Parts: sequence; structure tokens; C-alpha cells
Amino acid sequence: MLSTPDVLRRTGGRPVRSIVFDQSTIAERVQALASDITAAYPDGDLLVLGLLKGSFIFLSDLVRAIERPIQVDFLVASSYGNKKVSSGTVRLVYDPETRLEGKHILLVEDIIDTGKTLQRLMLLLGARRPRSLAICALLDKELATEPRPELRFVGFKAPPAFLVGYGLDHAENFRHLPFIADLE
Ligand code: IMP
Ligand code: MG
Repeated sequence: MLSTPDVLRRTGGRPVRSIVFDQSTIAERVQALASDITAAYPDGDLLVLGLLKGSFIFLSDLVRAIERPIQVDFLVASSYGNKKVSSGTVRLVYDPETRLEGKHILLVEDIIDTGKTLQRLMLLLGARRPRSLAICALLDKELATEPRPELRFVGFKAPPAFLVGYGLDHAENFRHLPFIADLE
């Protein structure tokens, strides 16, 4: 258990099991991902779409390290039906106002678990005739069942634990932690 004053001040006294990715490890990896993205799109319009809410910190660090013109917009997706047994049906609660047609679209997600939501989202966005459509995920639990969404850019392979911090939450808590921790 990690119960340094620095951690406890931020969590309200709740210890975390371990820090899985610390600040400098994340920063270094995000810079490398941004370099890969810059190199992967030598031409054309690139629209970076952040999937809210979990991607907000990752997205803000990532876009500032991409060294080419981009547009940034957001998506809010909602799965409906029985929450425990994901039906895989997805609906856009906030639809990006930016046109997708003819553009490279890079969907930015915090963490891939079953990958079901993203798989559906890709079909939905693909129907809008983008020039290309790819996913950048900070973390991949590699648990995704078939059909698995193809992840073009991945930050880290994640352990099969419940992770919080750097945008990831537990009931909206812990998103602000500057590191990624195992809560259990
Ligand atoms: P999927 O559709 O099953 O891949 O679910 C992915 C979503 O579940 C992510 O966008 C997160 O919001 C949430 N999620 C999955 N694993 C974790 C975790 O370890 N911590 C926090 N949220 C998670
Ligand atoms: Mg999410």
C-alpha cells in the first residue's frame, strides 16, 4: 500500500496499492506517441477526437506534443441497455460539430477493456466517410473480445487491475491524480 503524504493528500486519506505508471514515465510515453502520430500523418486534415470523459488529461498532453496542424473535438458516447452486460449498442450523446468527411480521424481513448464501445463507435464514425479512421489508446488491458478494435497507437499494456488517475476515475474520483495507480 502506498500511503505517502503526497498520495494521501490527493486521495483524501485513501491509500492506493501501487503507482503503476508515474508522471515521468507517462510524460515520456506521451511524447513518443505524439512523435509517432506526427510522422504517421504527413498530409491531409487531421481531426483528433477525444472520447470524454476519461481521455481529457491524456488528450491535452498529447495534442500539445503533436507537431502538425490538427483540429480537436470531442465525443461523448453512451452505451445503453443493461449496464452490467454491455449490449455493445452505442449512441452519441455529444456529436462532434466538425465535419468528418475526407479527414483523417484519430479517436483518443483512455483505456480499452472489452473494446465493445469503441468497436461500435468505429462503425458509426466510419459511415461518415473519413479519409482514414484510427484509434490511439493510452492503456490497453488486452482483454478485448472479438471483434477487437484495431489500435494503431497504444501507450502502455495495462495490468488486469482497476486503474485510476490521469483521467481515469472511480465514480468521478481520482481523475486528477498526476500518475496512474492501482486502486484495489
Ligand atoms: P470497454 O468498452 O469495455 O473497452 O470499456 C472501456 C471503458 O471502461 C473506458 O473508457 C473506461 O471508461 C472504463 N474502464 C475500463 N477499465 C477501467 C479501469 O481500470 N479504470 C477506470 N475505468 C476503466
Ligand atoms: Mg471511458
